[in-house]
Amino acid sequence: MTKPSNLLIANWKMSLSVKQTLALTKALLKGVSNLGKFLDFSLVLCPTFPALSAVGTLLKKPANIYLGAQDVFWKGHGPYTGEVSAEILSELGVKYVIVGHSERRQYLKETDDMIRHKVMAALQYNLTPVLCLGETYAQRQAGQRDAVLHQQLSRDLAGFSLTGQQNLVIAYEPVWAIGSGKAVSQSDMLQAAEVIEQGLRQMWPSETVSRQVRIIYGGSVDDTNIKTCLNQGRLNGALVGGASLQAAGFIKLLRQVA
Ligand code: 13P
Repeated sequence: MTKPSNLLIANWKMSLSVKQTLALTKALLKGVSNLGKFLDFSLVLCPTFPALSAVGTLLKKPANIYLGAQDVFWKGHGPYTGEVSAEILSELGVKYVIVGHSERRQYLKETDDMIRHKVMAALQYNLTPVLCLGETYAQRQAGQRDAVLHQQLSRDLAGFSLTGQQNLVIAYEPVWAIGSGKAVSQSDMLQAAEVIEQGLRQMWPSETVSRQVRIIYGGSVDDTNIKTCLNQGRLNGALVGGASLQAAGFIKLLRQVA
């Protein structure tokens, strides 16, 4: 990874139909092309699995705009009904994959061990995992944010490091800030990014951490607060949910970044 420009990831979750996804993608591409020729950020669009292929076709041309998936299975191939492997995602042109989102930890009961295997599977196919970490409201109230981040990091990344070609994105997403309209303060984000950085340095060589790992923030990011997570030392981007679902609003947000 060269000097990181900001990374914006749109997580569309299960919020749009395929038809709506394609309409939004087309509107975004048009809006982004109006922002200027040399965008100083990378944009990743993460639609649902059934829309990946069609969105991927639309993204063939523009530079700096990548296809992302919302999940991946850890096995290569075989009798795993309903699952999608990193190899298949890669075949569709996927470059990034969200792993360990709190909604999957909560509703699908994903464990840190499952998440670790997903991260490794993604890396094996040169997909960049976007590993989501963050504390619940109760954990925060109990002063456990840093301990939770350290624990998730050490479990989700246990037993391996990155090779020279591999990159990783860590998204600090406090569970209570997601969809609440209440993003954390900039100093909070920076403290959490620092804790994540320290945790990574306890496991991996400093060089690997500084060159191959990017840290971003997610949780109620919109056009009024996006600047708090850009170019802030170790914090270089955002994982955006609700505010990425309407073309006009998301373009307004991207205009703050461009
Ligand atoms: P919101 O931006 O809607 O809070 O969602 C954040 C998120 O969960 C992105 O993965």
